[in-house]
Amino acid sequence: MPIEARLRTNEPLSGRTTLGLGGAARHFVEIASDEDLADALAWARDRRLRVGVLGGGSNLVVPDEGFDGLVIAIASRGIVETRDGDRTRLAVRAGEIWDDLVARCVDADLAGVECLSGIPGLVGATPIQNVGAYGQEVSSTIVEVRAFDRTKERFVTMRPDACAFAYRDSGFKRAPDAFVVTDVVFSLVRGGRPTIAYAELQKKLGERASVATLREVRDTVIALRRGKAMVVDAGDPNTRSAGSFFTNPIVSDATRDDVIARAIARGAALSAAEVPTFPQSKGVTKLAAGWLIERAGIAKGLRRGAVGISDKHALALVHHGGGTTRELLALADEVTNRVREVWGVQLEREPVVFGGPQPRTGSHA
Ligand code: EPU
Repeated sequence: MPIEARLRTNEPLSGRTTLGLGGAARHFVEIASDEDLADALAWARDRRLRVGVLGGGSNLVVPDEGFDGLVIAIASRGIVETRDGDRTRLAVRAGEIWDDLVARCVDADLAGVECLSGIPGLVGATPIQNVGAYGQEVSSTIVEVRAFDRTKERFVTMRPDACAFAYRDSGFKRAPDAFVVTDVVFSLVRGGRPTIAYAELQKKLGERASVATLREVRDTVIALRRGKAMVVDAGDPNTRSAGSFFTNPIVSDATRDDVIARAIARGAALSAAEVPTFPQSKGVTKLAAGWLIERAGIAKGLRRGAVGISDKHALALVHHGGGTTRELLALADEVTNRVREVWGVQLEREPVVFGGPQPRTGSHA
């Protein structure tokens, strides 16, 4: 069927996002094959329309005005499994559900993604923000990303070093209009041990930490996420969110020391040990944005009209129903400004905002 025949106009997007906010797409199409993807992109290029790519909608903010271009919803399915020594390669179409893939790996005794259990969204989105949780990042199991290169107008295969993966970041995220991911190839260890590196996971597993199976780790991670309202769960009032709304700031050691001094001066911590810090490479430390937000006086459960802060985790902004994206972004600005005032640290937004570049939240001092 020609692409024109499949296009819809003024398609509401809010129901396709976990936040449940935002307006309509001027043009919308669901795409399951590479041919249709190339046709849809050519159609948009000929009309000079912007393109937005929609996966599971769990990391996406749609403006109230909607998106004045073409939204391509990824609906491709399929997994091809091949053996490769003691590893198994899974070539997965972008439209597969991420957590179904994790469950399949765990069931098949394939190690490498078990800590990434319970994360909403589709496979194609995972390399873009280099999804990570509880001691694993997808970049450590991804061996190839296939994508449509919108500049060269052809499909390309990229090795991990070409993807520029970093903490919650990749070359795809930095150049959002350059590629559309079509497939991700993972390499997993058959019969491998689970990764039990994150302190909170170790603690929760207790004595089982040295013997836990992939299945136990998956179940434990899901329980931890549920406790933080980081699983999409219709029964939880915090469920309308985009997960962590901010990334954890990566700062110099000098900024880290300044934050520790401010924390002690404010009575937010009695000693440096009470400030969560995660050393990265030399001279660089990751701070916990949720901790900074709470100790800046923005409490869990805070409400601003129809939006607020999750009552289980300060990093998640939630929509309680009947709100607007404008309200949500105003709250994000309030949080960002407050954290900058109190800690001298700039928070960066984590979800993608449709139709916009990737601006920082908050006004700039
Ligand atoms: N903390 C607080 N208050 C809060 C939340 C956290 O003080 O409201 C403190 C915790 O006590 C802990 C530290 O902050 O000392 C870190 O908290 P947590 O273990 O919950 O992890 P996080 O850094 O807030 C990150 C990811 C999550 C991921 C968890 C577990 C980012 C932006 N977020 O959260 O990912 O599930 O680690 O690995 O890196 C997501 O990206 O959407 C997401 C949920």
